[in-house]
Amino acid sequence: MTEEFISLSAEETGEYARRFAVTLQPGDMVSLCGELGAGKTEFMRGITEFLNCDDQLSSPTFPLLNIYEGSLDGKPVTVHHFDLYRINSLQELEGIGFDEYLSIGDFSFVEWADRFPEYALLYTVTITLEYAGSESRRIVIKRKTS
Ligand SMILES: Nc1ncnc2c1ncn2[C@@H]1O[C@H](COP(=O)(O)OP(=O)(O)OP(=O)(O)O)[C@@H](O)[C@H]1O
Ligand SMILES: [Mg+2]
Repeated sequence: MTEEFISLSAEETGEYARRFAVTLQPGDMVSLCGELGAGKTEFMRGITEFLNCDDQLSSPTFPLLNIYEGSLDGKPVTVHHFDLYRINSLQELEGIGFDEYLSIGDFSFVEWADRFPEYALLYTVTITLEYAGSESRRIVIKRKTS
């Protein structure tokens, strides 16, 4: 299942992310791919808004893992948001128990997931953001069919 969208602003990317969030299924592990500044974190902002996560995604430098407590249909949900940009080896990633954290959250999102193709099979959804102009981005969402 593939869906494509051209976003013309950061706001539109957030809006599209909120529309995508409606289709989230418990246990989804989402790979977020795209160059520096492509809009992975902007997309995440839409997700955390939809899931009523209290934390604001404002810091330009992220730790490896952000954990958000939110809610969906009035029920509490935990969101794990990884950024693997600064992880330099598979050993380092395994050392922090990446695959356990990935599967433990109600929903997990991984920026730069494609840096570690070893985990590619785990993701249920892959979202790719590409530059299509200074303010426009092509967003492709692929859900694995099981
Ligand atoms: N259509 C658009 N969609 C998303 N972001 C856009 C768009 N147009 C402009 N921008 C700007 O591009 C930047 C995207 O930054 P963001 O932090 O989301 O990228 P990123 O993919 O997470 O990068 P990084 O790999 O550094 O984490 C923001 O400054 C945002 O305002
Ligand atoms: Mg980012």
